[in-house]
Amino acid sequence: MTQLVWLITGCSSGFGELLTHHILSRGDLVIATARTLSKIAHLSQAGAATLELDVTHPQQAINDTVAQAIAIYGRIDVVVNNAGYVTSGAWEDIEYEQLLAQFDTNVFGVVKVTRAVLPHLREKKSGTMVFISSLSGWCGHPFVGPYAGSKFALEGMVESLSRETEVFGIKTLLVEPGRFRTMLLSPDNLHTAPSKISDYDKASKAHVDGLAQEDRMQPGDTQKAVKIIVDLVRKEGCAEGREVPFRFPLGTDCYESIKEKCEETLHLLKDWNQVINSTDHENHSNSN
Ligand SMILES: NC(=O)c1ccc[n+]([C@@H]2O[C@H](COP(=O)([O-])OP(=O)(O)OC[C@H]3O[C@@H](n4cnc5c(N)ncnc54)[C@H](OP(=O)(O)O)[C@@H]3O)[C@@H](O)[C@H]2O)c1
Repeated sequence: MTQLVWLITGCSSGFGELLTHHILSRGDLVIATARTLSKIAHLSQAGAATLELDVTHPQQAINDTVAQAIAIYGRIDVVVNNAGYVTSGAWEDIEYEQLLAQFDTNVFGVVKVTRAVLPHLREKKSGTMVFISSLSGWCGHPFVGPYAGSKFALEGMVESLSRETEVFGIKTLLVEPGRFRTMLLSPDNLHTAPSKISDYDKASKAHVDGLAQEDRMQPGDTQKAVKIIVDLVRKEGCAEGREVPFRFPLGTDCYESIKEKCEETLHLLKDWNQVINSTDHENHSNSN
């Protein structure tokens, strides 16, 4: 495969940072971005081009940054929508503004960056769009409603996008990591809303304490994950000679939870088959 040019959001730590290092080690070119340029100075020293990009900025500002990015190497082949964070708290404790902010980064930011790159990919009739979703795009765990909501929303939007754009030769890869050791749950990056309601107080606090204990103790090795992501895009290593699926769960916890949810869903469809299939108008035939 020829040398690819990657544009990545949220490169100051975690997946974005390690992806940048790994992609460079494979001989591809990277335009690493972050909302604070000084936080990715080390990636510039490692050989990446760097640009400032806050995914919550207005569409025009993001279009301008993407145009600058395209000008660096003359093209973008792979865009990785990686920037994101977690807001944790009970439904009743989350302020509307916190919910909006969560969706602004994890959903609307992704939409803006993707819309800025898409005309370029359509024009050259090639490219890959990678979206870092989550196990939280499958399972709504308690006290992470805003985060799960944002990743479920992302999954639906990206599934539609994938079907709209495959005719242009553009590939879409929706990556769903389980729990990986990054800065996601660090005190600086995790947004929490402590409960003001006594009914939730104990469970909410236990959840936040659990997240704090898990900070940088997660089972997933991010180095292993980024190698797999690059293999999937480049169709090398684990993906050599294989059809790469649109949706790709990553991690042992992800495997078990998704399997359980699929089995539960199949069980529900089987158990309630007759009721589910009993609501059509009498004069409606399936061939309509
Ligand atoms: N680690 C996991 O267990 C896990 C599991 C499933 C999914 N994910 C997903 O993986 C992605 C990367 O997270 P991570 O685990 O690598 O955590 P991380 O180490 O906290 O990295 C998140 C990155 O997103 C950036 N970011 C946040 N808001 C931004 C904004 N408005 N504009 C641009 N960049 C922004 C942060 O930059 P600043 O330094 O500027 O804050 C940081 O570089 C996220 O989408 C997350 O939801 C992670």
